[in-house]
Amino acid sequence: MRVSVIGCGHLGAPHAAAMAELGHEVIGVELDKDKCAALSAGIAPFYEDGFGELLAKHVGSGRLRFSTDLAEAADFAEMHFLAVGTPLREDGCGYDISCLTGVVESLAPLLWRPCTIVGKSTITIGTVAALQRIIDARSTIGEIELVWNPEFLREGHAVQDSLSPDRIVVGVSSAAAQKAMEEVYAPILARGVEMIVTDPATAELVKSAANAFLCTKISYINALSEACSLVDADVNTVAHAIGIDERIGHAGMRPGIGYGGGCLPKDVAAFSHRLGELGADRARALLESVRDVNAARIAIAVELIERAHGGPLDGVPVAFLGASFKAGTSDLRHSPALALVDRLIALGARPVIHDPEAIPGLRRQRPDLRCADTVEEALTGADVVVIATEWPQFTKDASLPALASAAARGRVLVDVRNAVEADPWSANGWHVWQLGRPALHPQHGIAAPAGAGAR
Ligand SMILES: NC(=O)c1ccc[n+]([C@@H]2O[C@H](COP(=O)([O-])OP(=O)(O)OC[C@H]3O[C@@H](n4cnc5c(N)ncnc54)[C@H](O)[C@@H]3O)[C@@H](O)[C@H]2O)c1
Repeated sequence: MRVSVIGCGHLGAPHAAAMAELGHEVIGVELDKDKCAALSAGIAPFYEDGFGELLAKHVGSGRLRFSTDLAEAADFAEMHFLAVGTPLREDGCGYDISCLTGVVESLAPLLWRPCTIVGKSTITIGTVAALQRIIDARSTIGEIELVWNPEFLREGHAVQDSLSPDRIVVGVSSAAAQKAMEEVYAPILARGVEMIVTDPATAELVKSAANAFLCTKISYINALSEACSLVDADVNTVAHAIGIDERIGHAGMRPGIGYGGGCLPKDVAAFSHRLGELGADRARALLESVRDVNAARIAIAVELIERAHGGPLDGVPVAFLGASFKAGTSDLRHSPALALVDRLIALGARPVIHDPEAIPGLRRQRPDLRCADTVEEALTGADVVVIATEWPQFTKDASLPALASAAARGRVLVDVRNAVEADPWSANGWHVWQLGRPALHPQHGIAAPAGAGAR
């Protein structure tokens, strides 16, 4: 099939490469000239596991190309995926869908052959109907159906999730559109992946409901970690024990500095606002509590770092490991790690930041921050080490505690992702502080600071 993907960012570019891998002929349309040039040269403009390789493979095979020209895509493709951004409006009252409306307003009059438009961006209830009205008013060839096909990929696993999704949801209005969706996803459906065929309004709601639930799970364990701190209980053990019940599960149940990124914060805010508009007040109140818990996480992490250091952070050199909003991606959008850095700087601390993938982007976006190219450089002379993104390089590397012992001045580790195996650190003489857990102090009889709960 000949397909276009309009908007080649974190969602669209991996989707375009995945479509090529499935055997389709693909054109990606990207407004940003620099991004389009990089993609055209087979160079990934951001880090996503496996994306650079897949992009280079299919730019090389000739099955995938990119353009800034929407008319080229209109001429070429029989299916057009929409993957432009839907940020939160500045007043917080729902999504800004101007990129989507702009694309359908421009695309509809350019179409001259039967085709399907397929939305993948995240939207709120009622948007498909509004966009379909624009298409109907502007199309010169009669009816063109707008299908909604929400995307559930996890950043950091975008390629894997695009090629092997756990489900495909399509909101369609006709049997012909359903057939087109079955055709474009045929290789995936052949492997037994379920395609849930529904109406557009239900498809819109599925995506909002999924992301709001993920946020709720994260805030639930974070709220519990607050309770655990009050009684010196261990939230990691609580999460492990309750998660054995398959109705609860372990995924998304690790305490930390909260959800972030380009999707969850805006999606739960927009959904909550829409629920309020619809009069679903109890659902809205639930999601507002979820947002409150999340908003408090940075202050709670700062308190923990102050407690671990044993006093105010003014002038304190901090090795700050992690900048991206989560491991596996270089995405810095609404990164809780960066929110924490900013709070530490406001308190006078002197963080030096290292991240395995996000440093080039961070240097461009935030030239005011001190960045290090290596872990060693970040650790040198630090009084406190903070792990703020759960990269395996920081949490699984068994040699890191010894390296940190040699480079850092203090032996205070604050893991605000509760991702580190604390024992090797403690064995190397470190005090390990995590959220909602008693601190672990060095083995070999080194005394714990006064007032610290100990494991
Ligand atoms: N990032 C994810 O993991 C993910 C997952 C599921 C859903 N989504 C949803 O997908 C949508 C896109 O998210 P993203 O993270 O990829 O955003 P993004 O900002 O990374 O990408 C959007 C891209 O669209 C381009 N663009 C804007 N207007 C355009 C136009 N008129 N023509 C061509 N290109 C245009 C931008 O330059 C940008 O590169 C959002 O609605 C998001 O909520 C994202």
